[in-house]
Amino acid sequence: MTTVLNLKGVCKRFGGVVVSDNIDLEIRSGEILGLIGPNGAGKTSLFNLISGVVPADAGTIVLGDRTLTGLPLYARARLGVARTWQHMRLFGSLSVLDNMMIAPSHYPGESLWRLITAGPSVKRAEAATRERAHGILARMKLEALADANVNDITFGQQKLVGLARALMSEGPLLLLDEPMAGVEGMAYETMRDIVREEAAAGRAVCVVEHNVSFIRDLCNSAVFMAQGRILERGDVTTLLESKTLAELYFGQ
Ligand SMILES: Nc1ncnc2c1ncn2[C@@H]1O[C@H](COP(=O)(O)OP(=O)(O)O)[C@@H](O)[C@H]1O
Ligand SMILES: [Mg+2]
Repeated sequence: MTTVLNLKGVCKRFGGVVVSDNIDLEIRSGEILGLIGPNGAGKTSLFNLISGVVPADAGTIVLGDRTLTGLPLYARARLGVARTWQHMRLFGSLSVLDNMMIAPSHYPGESLWRLITAGPSVKRAEAATRERAHGILARMKLEALADANVNDITFGQQKLVGLARALMSEGPLLLLDEPMAGVEGMAYETMRDIVREEAAAGRAVCVVEHNVSFIRDLCNSAVFMAQGRILERGDVTTLLESKTLAELYFGQ
């Protein structure tokens, strides 16, 4: 399996709070890596550092053969960092389909000049994007909701739309921040199946999740973070049985 994402010595502090303390992390194509740890451990911050929401103080972040460190969010999205957000960030007043159509940052129509000079190619790109969005919705059994307003669908469906939007990226890396929080039933199964399929198709997936059975169901390996540091990494069963984790995470 080829390395998709490689972090070396990544550091970040906010004032006196160290959220990322010399993090080394490698994720490979086809892997589903669980990222677990107590609230405030720095899990979301790590996703923010990888996707470029905040710059790292030190260290390098490499995606494939491209160094991401120093690049802004949109450039990293273009290079193939796709993510979902712990707090969903959907456009509530727009339809499910429109939320997905906004996603691709390399959309030709985003440049006004291209819009004026290259009408047909913009239209073709938009049609292709629309077709991709419908394909993803069909896989998620959400096709019937394509034109529904995001405010009018259930919470579980909104979480799926968050994933659907991330999947508009064809990039090699998928970061999922608590995808299962508040999700149950059909939406749970769909979420699990889609994540599995994406990894089987070769994406590298990293998933932050407190739902231990979801981690067990899905992940090959997991890392345990606390106070900005990776304390353990290993196969899921061994990791979940670790004493450090029991003390720091489950409070036992
Ligand atoms: N932009 C920021 N400015 C200041 N502090 C932040 C910022 N982002 C996160 N933090 C702090 O970093 C710590 C880790 O937060 P976070 O990464 O969200 O943890 P987790 O996702 O593991 O619960 C928390 O103490 C949080 O308050
Ligand atoms: Mg978080």
